[in-house]
Amino acid sequence: MRQGRVLSGMRPTGRLHLGHLFGALENWRQLQDEYESYFFVADWHALTSDYADPSRLQEHTREVVLDWLSAGIDPEKAVLFIQSRLPEHAELHLLLSMITPLPWLERNPTYKEQLQEVTNKDLSTFGFLGYPVLQAADILIYQANYVPVGVDQLPHIELTREIARRFNHLYKPVFTIPESMLTEFPKIPGTDGRKMSKSYNNCIYLSDSPEAVEHKVKPMITDPARIRRTDPGNPDVCPVYDLHKIFTPKDERESYVVPGCRTAAIGCLDCKGVLLKHMLPVLSPIYERRVKLAGQAGLVEEILAAGTEGARKVARQTLLVAKEAMGI
Ligand code: TRP
Ligand code: SF4
Repeated sequence: MRQGRVLSGMRPTGRLHLGHLFGALENWRQLQDEYESYFFVADWHALTSDYADPSRLQEHTREVVLDWLSAGIDPEKAVLFIQSRLPEHAELHLLLSMITPLPWLERNPTYKEQLQEVTNKDLSTFGFLGYPVLQAADILIYQANYVPVGVDQLPHIELTREIARRFNHLYKPVFTIPESMLTEFPKIPGTDGRKMSKSYNNCIYLSDSPEAVEHKVKPMITDPARIRRTDPGNPDVCPVYDLHKIFTPKDERESYVVPGCRTAAIGCLDCKGVLLKHMLPVLSPIYERRVKLAGQAGLVEEILAAGTEGARKVARQTLLVAKEAMGI
């Protein structure tokens, strides 16, 4: 059953939303049954860009772990931990930084893009340039075979492979060359029709109560051409319909929602009612689990302590071999 080792990380951005659920957690939840799995919160990675204001880092880290557990990530199946509790990652990052050519980092598309696009913080730091080297250390220290990530992370996994190959070639074959496992997921619009994102304030969170979800779905943007109840609509341009594609069974979509919309036989509120009927049974159990988990004092801490010890055994072993290979 265990076909190798899977590892993935998530930056502690605060409460997780449907984008995280379908873009990562649903996938992780399946992987944990099939692979030896390591999932961690990349809090050092958060510092590479948010170093100036770390005030909510601890809080965000806890929220992320609570959301994982609520979404069914199971500490009995997967090793769950926080990056910064394993200084072994930092030590390997240092060693890998010795052999990583600067141009590899300067060429990194994510780096170039962020430097240009992010204007509200100064990203011209050593730490930010080295982001992929730290990520390589995260991955290689567990000898991971597979790294489930979104498409934006592919350049980082490619760089990880190159660093590992260079190390293995310069010294001796220490590191497993990991493969990315691309997580394909449907488009998840926020309540305003743009991509669901914390910075747009358009998210449906895993920690939202069923009432909160209803309050967010009811006023959602629909086909902008459908102004009056009697106007026919077009599901293909409607963000509500994008959510239907995730939650509503195909036959109900095709026999009721689509024709109802196109002929104006149903109104948008009816349509959102159908969506909620399918959405709430998925989201409510997550919400309820989260309320329960959040109320159990010390639980998250206990899980993380056990995860950290589990991770450390593997990390320490790899680090030892890597150091020895480098003559340290
Ligand atoms: N860079 C990843 C992201 O922003 C997070 C991350 C850090 C990661 N270390 C990792 C992902 C190792 C996979 C493996 O999403
Ligand atoms: Fe969108 Fe549904 Fe309204 Fe059609 S009926 S425009 S699919 S919300």
